[in-house]
Amino acid sequence: MIKRMASPDQLVGEITPPGDKSLSHRAVIFNAIAQGRARVTNFLPGADCQATIACMRALGVSIQEDDDERELVVEGVGKEGLREAETVLDAQNSGTTMRLLAGLLAAQPFFSVITGDVSLRSRPMGRIAVPLRQMGASVWGRQGGSLPPLAIAGGRLSGIDYQMPVASAQLKSALLLAGLYARGETHLEEPAPSRDHTERMLEAMGVELRREGNRVALVPPSQPLRALDIHVPGDISSAAFWLVAGTIHPRARIVVRGVGMNPTRTGILDVLRAMGAMLKVEKAREERGELVADVMVESRPLRGVEIGGDLIPRLIDEAPIIALAAAAAQGTTIIKDAAELRVKESDRISTTVAELRRFGVNIEEMPDGMIIRGGGELQGATCKSYGDHRLAMTLAMAGLVARGETFVRDAEIVDVSYPHFWEDVERLASSSPPPTGSSDL
Ligand code: S3P
Repeated sequence: MIKRMASPDQLVGEITPPGDKSLSHRAVIFNAIAQGRARVTNFLPGADCQATIACMRALGVSIQEDDDERELVVEGVGKEGLREAETVLDAQNSGTTMRLLAGLLAAQPFFSVITGDVSLRSRPMGRIAVPLRQMGASVWGRQGGSLPPLAIAGGRLSGIDYQMPVASAQLKSALLLAGLYARGETHLEEPAPSRDHTERMLEAMGVELRREGNRVALVPPSQPLRALDIHVPGDISSAAFWLVAGTIHPRARIVVRGVGMNPTRTGILDVLRAMGAMLKVEKAREERGELVADVMVESRPLRGVEIGGDLIPRLIDEAPIIALAAAAAQGTTIIKDAAELRVKESDRISTTVAELRRFGVNIEEMPDGMIIRGGGELQGATCKSYGDHRLAMTLAMAGLVARGETFVRDAEIVDVSYPHFWEDVERLASSSPPPTGSSDL
C-alpha cells in the first residue's frame, strides 16, 4: 500500500493512541499462566499482539476477544497448565513475542519451535539462548542458536546470577519468566535500566521481586500467580509521532489522551523538552500500577541536543521520530550509544538515515547512532518503510511538514503497533480551522 500525503495548513485536534504494545503482550502472557480469569481492556489489536494471542492459544490457553478486539478475557491455566503446541509457533514480526515466549517455553517440560517473518528471523536470539541454556534449557536455532527459528526443550531450570550484555526488557523479561519456574532465585543486572512493565505486572500478581537501580532479583513463587484485570494505557511510543508533529508543524496544537507515563518510557518527553518543545502533562493519574496522563503540544522552534547513555533505553523505539524532530531543529543533534537500533524491525540507523535523506535532511550514520544537522526545509519525497512500522509512521510525520507531496511505500506495516494510524493522520490533517477568536496558535 502506498500513502500519499501533503502538509496541511494546520494540525489541530485530539489523538487517542492505541493501547501500549509492551503491556498488551504481557497482559496476555502473564495472565495465561496465572490462576483465574482476567479481563484486559484497551488491548492493542495490532499484528504483534495478535501473534502473541495465537501462540498462547496454540499452547492451550483460552482467550476470548470482543468484536473490535480491544477487550479480552484470558482464562489462566496456572503455571503448570500449558500444553505442547501441535505445530510451529509464529511470532510474525514481534521480537517481544519471540523473546518472552522463549523464556516461558524454556521452563516447560515439552518441545517447542518458534519462528517469525523475514525481519524477525534476522534478529539476534543468542542473547536469550545463552542464559536460558545456563539455566538448564536446551535451545537450538540457526547459527548456533543466534537466529530464529528456535527449538526449545525446557524444564528443570535453576536460578541464575546474570550480568546482561545489553539493556533489553525483552531479555530481562524472558529470564524473569524462566526464573518463575526455576529452583532458586534469579538475579539480573542490566547495563542501564530498561522498561520495567514485567516487574510491575508480576509484582501486582503476587510475585516477590527485589529491585534496585539496574538490578532485579526474583524469588520463584510458591503460590499461583493471581489473575489481574488490566486496563492498558495508551502507548507513549505511538503518541510520540504526534508529540513531534505537533511541535514541528508551524500551526499545530494536539492533545494526546491517556498516554502511559511509566518513567522507564518517558525519555521522549525529556528530549523534546530539552529541545525547547512546549509539552503540558495534564490529568496525571495512576491506573493499576501504571501512570497515565494527557499530553498537550503546540508548535515551537526546536534546538539540537545530544542524546546518549542511560537515556537510550528510555526512548529506544522513538529514535526515528526524534531524528525527524532533530531535522526540524536549529543546530546539531547527536544520538549515540544506540547500536541496539541496528537490530530492531529494521536497521533503524541506516534506514532512518537513508529515508530522511530523501527529504533533504542533512543526516549522517554513525556505528552507534546518527548526527543530524537540522534547520533546513524538508522537501516531500517518495520513501519506503522497509517493513518497519515505526519508520513508516516517522515518514508519514515528515510528509505532514514537508513542502510538496510525499509517498510512503509499504504503508500497511503500521498495523503492527497502531492499526488506526492512517485514519488519525487523515482526521488531523483535514481538521478545519479553529473558530475565530478561540485560537492561540
Ligand atoms: C520491548 C522492549 C524493547 C522495545 C520493543 C518492546 C518490550 O526491545 O524496542 O519494541 O516489550 O519489552 P528490547 O528489550 O530488545 O530493547
